[in-house]
Amino acid sequence: MDIFRTKSVEQSVQDTEAPEHRLRKRLTATDLTVFGIGVIVGTGIFVLTGQVAKQTAGPAVALSFIVAAVVCGLAALCYAEFASTLPVAGSAYTFSFATLGEFPAWVIGWDLMLEMALAAAVVAVGWSGYFASLLQSIGLTLPDWMAGDDPVVNIPAMVIVLILTAILVAGIKLSSRVNLIIVIIKVAVILLVIVAGLFFVNAANYTPFIPDPISTPAVEGLKAPLIQVLFGITPVAFGVIGIFSAAAIVFFAFIGFDIVATAAEETIEPQRDLPRGIIGSLVVCTVLYVVVSLVVVGMQPYSELSTRAPLADAFTAVGQNWAAALISIGAIAGLTTVVMILMLGQSRVLFAMCRDGLLPRGLAKVHPKYGTPARLTIIIGVVTALLAGFISLGALAELVNIGTLFAFVVVSIGVIILRRTRPDLHRAFRTPLVPLLPILSVLACLYLMLNLPVETWLRFFIWMVIGAALYFLYGYRHSRAQRLVPGIKPD
Ligand code: ALA
Repeated sequence: MDIFRTKSVEQSVQDTEAPEHRLRKRLTATDLTVFGIGVIVGTGIFVLTGQVAKQTAGPAVALSFIVAAVVCGLAALCYAEFASTLPVAGSAYTFSFATLGEFPAWVIGWDLMLEMALAAAVVAVGWSGYFASLLQSIGLTLPDWMAGDDPVVNIPAMVIVLILTAILVAGIKLSSRVNLIIVIIKVAVILLVIVAGLFFVNAANYTPFIPDPISTPAVEGLKAPLIQVLFGITPVAFGVIGIFSAAAIVFFAFIGFDIVATAAEETIEPQRDLPRGIIGSLVVCTVLYVVVSLVVVGMQPYSELSTRAPLADAFTAVGQNWAAALISIGAIAGLTTVVMILMLGQSRVLFAMCRDGLLPRGLAKVHPKYGTPARLTIIIGVVTALLAGFISLGALAELVNIGTLFAFVVVSIGVIILRRTRPDLHRAFRTPLVPLLPILSVLACLYLMLNLPVETWLRFFIWMVIGAALYFLYGYRHSRAQRLVPGIKPD
């Protein structure tokens, strides 16, 4: 039983050439950067900034963004090398298949569902909240059962997911055009927050910048960060420790740059453009986040920030309702692209897994007219819509983070391995300081993971056990690696 059989880089590239499984190559570096910003700027900055400043870090939330950005930057440098070496749909899944073997690759593919489908549902619920509040501001109140704080079935979230699914089925070029327009609106709104907000900053709100640590019910029991439990620290919020706990949460705001790598197969010049797209979008977002969070915590005392729509509500608090309304519209537009691209990334990862036979191959058929994996996209859309409609997903954002950080750990290790096993491959982008930088990336990601709550670790563990069971029941037997060269490593 060889669960560590690998799939060679050449085989991965060759698989993409089979006509019935071929995606169209249309994207450029600019498309990719827009894609990146489209998926990165979302719930993280529009919603979590306020929550985290109020409950975990105070004004020092800006430092939490920097911590999370450094972790992502290290991982991005590893992702960029991999993506420029292996321009094949499937992101971390494909990377691990080439380096660590089939079972680890399955584990990653399974894990990425947490990052993408689950995150898409989380963001769709956030979208619905902003949508309801915008309607309310023009005098239309949606009933509580469909759009309240704890709805029976979240209809707006389901509807937006299904509309976006239809756009994705119709073709990627249409999606990236829609995305471009929305990204422009979103960035404009963020710049508005920065420029208009500066007039309302009160320096007194920055003191204390790092509030004294306090013990609160929000961090007790299973909700305590694992690291505080492991080291027997009485769980606290705020203080220097709080900056790191907050970083593990606002990490959500950066999720997405890695999804740029999943569009590798659809990029005209992946070797050159992927690293540019990944690193470019990360840099832009980091600057926006740090500045926006500094402005927002300067506008209101952190303890008074809103947890539902902090950017908009900070303007309401200073009597600028026009700005609040504009920001809500921008947030709605922004969250729309996030949901759309998360679903796009998810469809491409599942596409690669089906093509390898780890999931039913028939699902990966490309639509003859649209050139997209239509069946898979529809399945993902329906599942995401159900998740968004029926499950309250607040705490599950942390599950998204742990899943993503885990994928980053594997990719960083993969860079070191691929340098050893395939030094001959052409790498358009080379991660600097290998193995030091990938090792730092692994440690940084693990450190952030340890800052997540105990209950998140438990949920993550259960999800992974289910995935492992599925692999041995289905994937192992149906894998193409198995069929092509039974019992022999196909390398
Ligand atoms: N980074 C994305 C967001 O903040 C997932 O919504």
